[in-house]
Amino acid sequence: MKRGREPRPQTDGGPHIPVLLAEVLSALDLPGRTLAVDGTFGAGGYTRAMLGADPSVHVLAIDRDPGAIADGAPTVAAAQGRLTLVPGRFGSLDACVREAGWPQADAVVLDIGVSSMQIDQAERGFSFRHDGPLDMRMERAGRSAANLVNEAEEGDLADIIYHYGEERRSRAVARAIVEARRKGRIETTAALAEIVASVVWADPASGIHPATRTFQGLRIAVNDELGELVQALHAAERILRPGGRLAVVTFHSLEDRIVKQFFSARSGRAAQGSRHLPSLEAPAPRSFTAVTKGPVLPTDSETFANPRARSAKLRAVERTDAPAPAPLAAIETLAALPERTGRSARR
Ligand SMILES: C[S@@+](CC[C@H](N)C(=O)[O-])C[C@H]1O[C@@H](n2cnc3c(N)ncnc32)[C@H](O)[C@@H]1O
Repeated sequence: MKRGREPRPQTDGGPHIPVLLAEVLSALDLPGRTLAVDGTFGAGGYTRAMLGADPSVHVLAIDRDPGAIADGAPTVAAAQGRLTLVPGRFGSLDACVREAGWPQADAVVLDIGVSSMQIDQAERGFSFRHDGPLDMRMERAGRSAANLVNEAEEGDLADIIYHYGEERRSRAVARAIVEARRKGRIETTAALAEIVASVVWADPASGIHPATRTFQGLRIAVNDELGELVQALHAAERILRPGGRLAVVTFHSLEDRIVKQFFSARSGRAAQGSRHLPSLEAPAPRSFTAVTKGPVLPTDSETFANPRARSAKLRAVERTDAPAPAPLAAIETLAALPERTGRSARR
């Protein structure tokens, strides 16, 4: 498996800079399209750009982070009735669209992952670079990273860190966590980072912190990020009108694999006998056609100006008039942890 990286904020405490913005707008082809869904409002960068693309555009923006919703109030006011901003999860974006009174959507955009604001605020507990409570909950509700780290079984922790963090030393990390918590609860990001660094050694060649992959794994598990992504792709498929566009920006290989395989399967381009989709269901009518041929990557100048864009990938598709097929079970398995019996013996 390839190594994942924690998205690096471009400046400490600086604003969130929208990634691949021009490419996303081009892929969505908004002029003439009126009802656009921004499933990941964040700091509103994509939403403002979509509103600015054409005066006929109305945006329904969603974010699961109550802080993003509160901070979005000035953008809502400035949009003069063309922006509806709601708290919620993009996994149920089709229900959000219907609740807003729209029959269908013309465009859906998803910018997966965490925002710079979330990473930079120590009290959110997403980053080992800023010591804070071990939280990581985008929604500020439900099971926190501290609950997981202090209460999960060692084998479950190892699975999460291996499969969602792509950390080869996952068993050693899980063992170190369990040993440390016998002495007292692990409550802070710095405490966890120190435990991880005691068993994972820094790789000077990559320059990434030893705790990067463990933090990524825990964050994905706490927020069910991959499950949400799978649901969102199906929800967008159900709610887009024929000719409507779906654009997704991902930041690591686990997310990109899900998007790539879903788009390939739904546009009839799935490779036969794919390693990741060995039992791909019988071909369904094509619900999408490709807009981007392969992933669109940031230019060198974007990556230079905004290092967080470094690992971004954009993929986009256009809805056909075929009815939405049944959910793609093979994609759902890409988001789930394998059964314990199937766990890799390499760790
Ligand atoms: C990378 S930021 C989006 C930045 C935005 N495109 C901009 O230009 O400002 C990702 C946002 O998506 C939100 N998010 C992540 N998963 C979500 C989900 N399942 N449902 C709704 N919002 C989610 C996060 O809270 C975060 O605010």
